[in-house]
Amino acid sequence: MALINPLKFLQKAREKGVAIAAFNVHNLETIQAVAEGAAEERAPVIIQTTPGTLKHAGVEYIAACVKVAAEKHNIPIALHVDHCPSYNTIVQCIRNGYTSVMIDGSHLPYEENVALVKKVVEVAHSVGVPVEGELGRIGGAEDDLTVDEREATFTVPEEARDFVEATGVDTLAIAIGTAHGVYKWEPRLDFKRLADIRKLVDVPLVLHGASGVDDESIRKAIAGGICKINIATELKIPMAEAIQEVFRAKPGENDPRKYMGPAKEAVKQVVRNKIRLCGCNGLADELEGRW
Ligand code: 13P
Ligand code: ZN
Repeated sequence: MALINPLKFLQKAREKGVAIAAFNVHNLETIQAVAEGAAEERAPVIIQTTPGTLKHAGVEYIAACVKVAAEKHNIPIALHVDHCPSYNTIVQCIRNGYTSVMIDGSHLPYEENVALVKKVVEVAHSVGVPVEGELGRIGGAEDDLTVDEREATFTVPEEARDFVEATGVDTLAIAIGTAHGVYKWEPRLDFKRLADIRKLVDVPLVLHGASGVDDESIRKAIAGGICKINIATELKIPMAEAIQEVFRAKPGENDPRKYMGPAKEAVKQVVRNKIRLCGCNGLADELEGRW
């Protein structure tokens, strides 16, 4: 199966009141862990990379590996570039087969954010690729992107409506109290704000910084209209812990298969759990014929 446009399954998820899990990957093993975990759950899945990962691994390598994963597993897989501030990087990703992009202009003043996103929407839509935008600023650290707590701002519902209308984005990342990375304190989501945004905005809504958010809040967010859940840190931590455990038990281990194997398994378990939490397990079969 070729990589597909995620709107096909995001719309279905929305109809059913479930969400699609989107996982940030960094290397071959994490790509395999996400694809195998999703295939075992029969779930459509979004595999995503930040520009930092593209710098580390190379867009051609990532695209090639994810294409192989999609051919190998009979589930819908989309490849998405996450938090990309650069128009040129987005074009390179599309050129290499990415089927979805996020242009992150959330650091810019509103008008500049709108202008940048519009430009990206124009080029991406001309080749059938959907665009995720962000309004409000999600705090915390995601690769090279660090947003100080004082700079983090919640999404204003009326602004979100105007932003979607002005830019033509297909999905919208909103700031309702989550943050990237490890939480310093218990995250508290603003569900009233989510409901107000949902009333005014008709495109699928995206929750970033989902790692470390309790399951109940994730379920409530999905019931409130979130259709895509972004998870990065909760894959990184078990991966690092599994590797550390191997070296604790055998400090002289030097076979990458011996430490990357358990790491991959640890990531896969989290992928399966998160997919079930999102309620999109089995959804691949309901989409049969639609992708
Ligand atoms: P976490 O690292 O907090 O899971 O955030 C993921 C994310 O939002 C990726 O864009
Ligand atoms: Zn994010």
